[in-house]
Amino acid sequence: MPGAFRDAVMSPPRPGPAAPAPPGPWTGCGRPPPAGARAGRYRTQHLVQPARPLGAAGAGSPPRAPRSHRSRPAEARPRSAVPSLFTVPAAPCAPGKSWPCAVRAASSATPRRSAMFKTTTDAELAGNPIDEVIGSTIRYAALTTAAKLGIFTALEEDGPKTLDELATAIGASTDGTRAVADVVAVLGWLTLEDGRYRNGPLAERWLGKNAAYDFTPALLWAYELTHVMWELPQAVRDGKPDRSLWERWADNPDAGRDFSAYMQVKSRLTVQPIVDAVPLPDGARRLLDLGGSHGLHSMAMCERHPDLSATILDLPEALADTGAAIEKAGLADRITLQRGSFLSGDLGTGYDVVFLFEIVHNHTDEENRDLVARAAEALRPGGRIVVLEDVRGEQLDEHNAAFSLAMFACSGDRTYSLPEISGWLTGAGLKSVERIALPSSVSLVVGTK
Ligand SMILES: C[S@@+](CC[C@H](N)C(=O)[O-])C[C@H]1O[C@@H](n2cnc3c(N)ncnc32)[C@H](O)[C@@H]1O
Repeated sequence: MPGAFRDAVMSPPRPGPAAPAPPGPWTGCGRPPPAGARAGRYRTQHLVQPARPLGAAGAGSPPRAPRSHRSRPAEARPRSAVPSLFTVPAAPCAPGKSWPCAVRAASSATPRRSAMFKTTTDAELAGNPIDEVIGSTIRYAALTTAAKLGIFTALEEDGPKTLDELATAIGASTDGTRAVADVVAVLGWLTLEDGRYRNGPLAERWLGKNAAYDFTPALLWAYELTHVMWELPQAVRDGKPDRSLWERWADNPDAGRDFSAYMQVKSRLTVQPIVDAVPLPDGARRLLDLGGSHGLHSMAMCERHPDLSATILDLPEALADTGAAIEKAGLADRITLQRGSFLSGDLGTGYDVVFLFEIVHNHTDEENRDLVARAAEALRPGGRIVVLEDVRGEQLDEHNAAFSLAMFACSGDRTYSLPEISGWLTGAGLKSVERIALPSSVSLVVGTK
């Protein structure tokens, strides 16, 4: 099984009703939880030590300036000091040069990521981490606005442009265009040379039709996420957002289309190890892909297994471009689209395998238990349910915590632990449950009928 390894096998099935949820993600056994989450309680974690009083090193010693986290080697920094989800990858540079090279060469400025937004000196506050948070918001706003207004597309399609030409091309003011383009340039996504903007190395690699993986839909989706996150305080107070993501899409179908395109490009990076790892039952012919969206997983499975055909059930907005993609792949006679909700009703019968790929984090425990039970009914004996998820571990984990918060903001839901997911599967009468870890943050959790 290339690209995957099995790290837990739980069989035979647990008898009786569904397994109870674990006592809490961070109160169980195993390694002690990180500081700040001990015994299920949250505490303030000191990311930055208070500045040492000048001269405190002792008589005769020269006063030592406090050292910020930024000046420490990466491996010595606390992981949580600057969450990796919000950092910007460095642009590729010639050896020995700091980035972004093109900008540095084009101006006398000496940009560096930590100086994106800086209101204090390191000596005053030992490297103010709040500036980093505000700086990440500015980076986010500049990049999503540049994508939304088509700056990268205009430069890719029509070549380098002066400020006036760029503003005209995107139908925007020169002052506004300059404000956004300059930030995007210091981040390495554009360059400014001889008075002309052009796409920088990061944009050429990750954005546009010439990029191997065009993540433009991810930035467009990130723009929509602004609306979702704006209402996070209300959602936290009330226990859920006023409107789920899917309800938002009903008013704004383009957002659903952008989301689906984002899922598609993200999945292109991971689809092969997943297809390699899926333990298809012998002689499998029928796949039901719940929330299959862009169709990439169904298409890859059908390409790998010539006898397989698939049905993708998803909301209409998420399937807007899927039919065309399936047609283009020459799989229209083997993959069927079914528009509707999987949250109620019969899911059919006689399937060999049912996928629940990255969907349970958008639904409640009760909805998932019911969905898995109906998916199990749709399986033939010996058939399998395959759940693909960012499984919540016992320890507080930076990525999973951030992802779970995003899910809460989007739909009032969260990530789930292995005992919770396997509880739905065994509760639906499946015989054995196993977890298959993958090279990325997600795992497969598989139950057999
Ligand atoms: C995070 S995406 C996952 C897409 C795809 N399975 C993947 O792994 O890339 C979740 C999908 O579930 C779909 N979805 C959410 N609620 C649904 C519902 N009630 N009925 C059908 N599909 C739903 C969304 O439209 C979306 O396409």
